[in-house]
Order: sequence, then C-alpha cells, then structure tokens
Amino acid sequence: MLRIDNLTKTFGANTAVDRATIHVDRPMMIGIIGRSGAGKSTLLRMLNRLTPHSSGTITFNGLDVTALKGGDMRRWQAQCAMIFQQFNLVPRMDVVSNVLHGTLNRHSTLAALFNLYPASDIHRAIDILERLGIAQHAPKRAEALSGGQQQRVAIARALMQDPQIILADEPIASLDPMNAQVVMEALRRIHEEDGRMVIANLHTLDTARRYCDRVIGMRDGRIVFDGLPEQLTTGAARDIYGADASFSEAATSTEIDALDRPSAHTTARVPA
Ligand SMILES: Nc1ncnc2c1ncn2[C@@H]1O[C@H](COP(=O)(O)OP(=O)(O)OP(=O)(O)O)[C@@H](O)[C@H]1O
Ligand SMILES: [Mg+2]
Repeated sequence: MLRIDNLTKTFGANTAVDRATIHVDRPMMIGIIGRSGAGKSTLLRMLNRLTPHSSGTITFNGLDVTALKGGDMRRWQAQCAMIFQQFNLVPRMDVVSNVLHGTLNRHSTLAALFNLYPASDIHRAIDILERLGIAQHAPKRAEALSGGQQQRVAIARALMQDPQIILADEPIASLDPMNAQVVMEALRRIHEEDGRMVIANLHTLDTARRYCDRVIGMRDGRIVFDGLPEQLTTGAARDIYGADASFSEAATSTEIDALDRPSAHTTARVPA
C-alpha cells in the first residue's frame, strides 16, 4: 500500500531524515515517536510533499508520489490530509466555514470567498461535525472553542477531503490530558470505522502504545524501532530516547518503568 524506501532529507550538512524505510500493507494507525529533532515532522512533511525530499522514494498503491507535479501533486496532498499541533484554523471564521475550507481543492477560491458552497457540502460538513460530537458549535467562531474542540474542527476539515491517509503532527501536544484523550479517540475511531490510515507524530510513548497498531521510533533521523506496541520494551525505548535520557523531553521515567505492563488498546467512543 504505502512504501517508503531510503527516504532522506538533508538541510545543508544536517541529515534530518536518514534513509527511512517503512512498508505498510494495510491501513494502520501508526505512531512515530522520538526526541525533539529526531526528524518526525520532516518525515511527515515529505510524505505529503510539503517538504521536498533529497533522495529515496515514496509509492502509494503503485503511484510514485515523489515524482508528482502540479495538479497531480495537489490531488495527492488532498489524499493525505495533515493536522497540526496548532490546529491552523481561521480563528475569526465560523466552525462550519473552517470545515468547508477542506473542499478548497475542488472549488474556486472566489466561490469560497463568498461562502458559495453547494448545499450538499454544507450538509456533509455538519454530518462530520456531528460525528465528532461538535455540531452544536457549527455557527461559532473557531476561536471561541476549546483546544480539543478546535482540533476536532481541524480533523473535520481534513475529513472533508475524504483522505486515504491522515497525517497528524503532534495533534495533542497543546492539549490537556482530557482533550488529548478525546482527540486521540476521534482519530482512532476514524481509522477503525472508515479504514483510513493514520500516521501521527506523538510526544509520549504512552499515547503511542495506547492508540496505535504500530510504533516507529526515530533517533537522529534514523528509524531505530518499528514494531508492535507490545514489542516496545525498556531497551527499545532507550534506543529511541537514549540511555542518558531523563525522559523529561518525551516520556516520563514512569512510562519507561511501566513498559512491561500489558498495553491497553482503546477503542472508546468520542463523547458528545
Ligand atoms: N526548514 C529547516 N531548515 C533547516 N533545518 C531544519 C528544517 N526543518 C527541520 N530541520 C532540522 O531537521 C532536524 C529534524 O527536525 P524535525 O522538525 O523533523 O524534528 P522533530 O522530530 O519533528 O522534532 P520536534 O519533536 O521538536 O518537533 C532538526 O535537526 C531540525 O533542526
Ligand atoms: Mg516535529
């Protein structure tokens, strides 16, 4: 399905991603973990062509993603929607218009400027908001919502593109634990119910273990772990975060100590 081979990105003398190879044969929920600067964001950004790669290849269902140009590249970018830590909504615009922005690839900018969206798109946007438990906020300005609600609006905007892959760069890093849980559960549900692939950069081991089918650990641009959450032993965690790590940056020592405990996969529902 998705094949990343020897994908490399250099910034001057610095190799941000070093010959990353990842093969995914079915839509999985994948968590990418690693210390700050490990190359997680650069890897995601190369995947949807926000950042040009230096060498290597990406193919999706046989399509050579790294060779796409112009309209083909934009179509690919719509196929792998991106969600960011800071939500990237238009704060003063209402929620439903923010979600409708997800259809911009299909509509003229002029039509969007005057909010001339087809009724079918508006209904779809409301249905998606409903599904994420935030339809009651549809007329409000995005800035009036809590962080967790805003991130769900960003997920709704991504879903408007009907993407095959959702790329999430630290989707819960700005959220309190309660909102973080709601957002991770929403992503998990979208993966399970729609069969979409989700690839999320995550700050903590615990989140990756709890929600993901597969965990990829990066260190200094290289993939140093690729396996099931239950294979993420204390030794593997030390390979990813470094033996010297106080784990203050990305994981707590309690999390490392708790690694031998059976993992708790969650498929809980998003509360209304
Ligand atoms: N536009 C850029 N120009 C130069 N160097 C960059 C650029 N973007 C990233 N880098 C470098 O590439 C390396 C990987 O950065 P990246 O942002 O991918 O790490 P990360 O794992 O996402 O870190 P964090 O957890 O802090 O978000 C770092 O050394 C960073 O300084
Ligand atoms: Mg990053």
